[in-house]
Amino acid sequence: MKDLTPRKQDLDPIEIASRDEIAALQLERMKWSLAHAYANVPFYRKKFDEAGVHPDDLKQLSDLSKFPFTVKSDLRDNYPFGLFAVPRDKVVRVHASSGTTGKPTVVGYTRKDIDTWAEVVARSMRASGTRPGDVVHVAYGYGLFTGGLGAHYGAERLGCTVVPVSGGMTTRQVTLIEDFGATTIMVTPSYMLSILDEYRAQGLDPRNSPLQVGIFGAEPWTNAMRAEVEQAFDMHAVDIYGLSEVMGPGVANECVETKDGLHVWEDHFYPEIINPQTGEPVADGGQGELVFTSLTKEALPIIRYRTRDLTRLLPGTARSMRRMEKITGRSDDMMILRGVNVFPTQIEEQILKVDELAPHFQIELSRHGRMDEMTVNVEALPNHADNAERAGAAAELAKRIKQVVGVSVRVNVTEPGGVARSQGKAVRIVDNRPKDG
Ligand code: DLL
Repeated sequence: MKDLTPRKQDLDPIEIASRDEIAALQLERMKWSLAHAYANVPFYRKKFDEAGVHPDDLKQLSDLSKFPFTVKSDLRDNYPFGLFAVPRDKVVRVHASSGTTGKPTVVGYTRKDIDTWAEVVARSMRASGTRPGDVVHVAYGYGLFTGGLGAHYGAERLGCTVVPVSGGMTTRQVTLIEDFGATTIMVTPSYMLSILDEYRAQGLDPRNSPLQVGIFGAEPWTNAMRAEVEQAFDMHAVDIYGLSEVMGPGVANECVETKDGLHVWEDHFYPEIINPQTGEPVADGGQGELVFTSLTKEALPIIRYRTRDLTRLLPGTARSMRRMEKITGRSDDMMILRGVNVFPTQIEEQILKVDELAPHFQIELSRHGRMDEMTVNVEALPNHADNAERAGAAAELAKRIKQVVGVSVRVNVTEPGGVARSQGKAVRIVDNRPKDG
């Protein structure tokens, strides 16, 4: 893999500013953001009043903990445009997430917000090793999902040639990467695995592909998966994080030279970690739920938004801005099996240690009597698909999960192609337990 470390002079000065400079900018912007939300969004005015706080009470950054949280249902309850802080005709774009139940959550952007977004995605791509002039293949979905258009505007801003492919039609993905000479790909890590399979199906050696950088996000993935993809394609695999309510992709990103967690672009998004049970702030270094406050957003200022994502905050390394550790999972994805907390990422790590298994998997939850059971459905690699090898691999995986994660699971090793493929975010958990029992 090539050394793609960006040159210092190409970074935004704030990325490597002193902590004091960053904090001063954050305080000024946080005051603005709270005042903007309070003055222009009745929802925030009411919530702040009820909690007995006013934007003027923020004297230092830590005073933010006096302000109430915002949660996903607050966006649903104010569907579609109730949380917008600017007149509707100043909103140049909306995105929405489908959500599993009920109404989607809608987010809006002013022209300046779109500009900020392009800037943080361009910064994320530069941190990933992408350079002006690169050909960037965007396979995140285009549409209401923020992935495709978010990546697109950032790549244009950085000065790249953008190929707006969106998800799906995997055969064509490979053809376009090869024919257009894509050097960067932006896609979910699970769909990258399908693209990898397609390379092999076409008899192409992925290590000969033009790709040098993959910018993967929108779902949790492990360092074991990074090693797998980097090895298969001889490319850098870098993590990008974001969520629609806070902006979209580009809230935080890893640096290609360190790959040690994601630097949060703290000049626009202020992170906190809280104890998900009590809501109390957790000091840097401690595990908990990630909470964000937007510092510059106009159309949809978001104050102390509870992401449900679990991680911890660590000091900066390649940049001055703090890092968040790779996300373990969402609190909603945590399964509790006979008292043991289990995340799909823990299962992924173990699957990647078994030589006969492909990295595609899905977890099925069922109930037998009063006991919850977990079945891991995973595929055998094409050259290890006979019955004996599949049985051996199943036993090996069950043993590893028992030893490392601490739960007994059933493992079902299917033929190659036996596990449902995603073309965007993978569905890792299928819950077949009765709803009320
Ligand atoms: O997934 C935005 C995005 C698009 C990020 C493309 C990165 C790349 P939502 O659809 O609103 O937005 O989903 C946000 O996805 O709260 C996390 O649970 C999860 N997520 C996003 N990035 C990562 C990541 C986009 N790098 C939700 N690692 C978030 C783990 C991630 N989970």
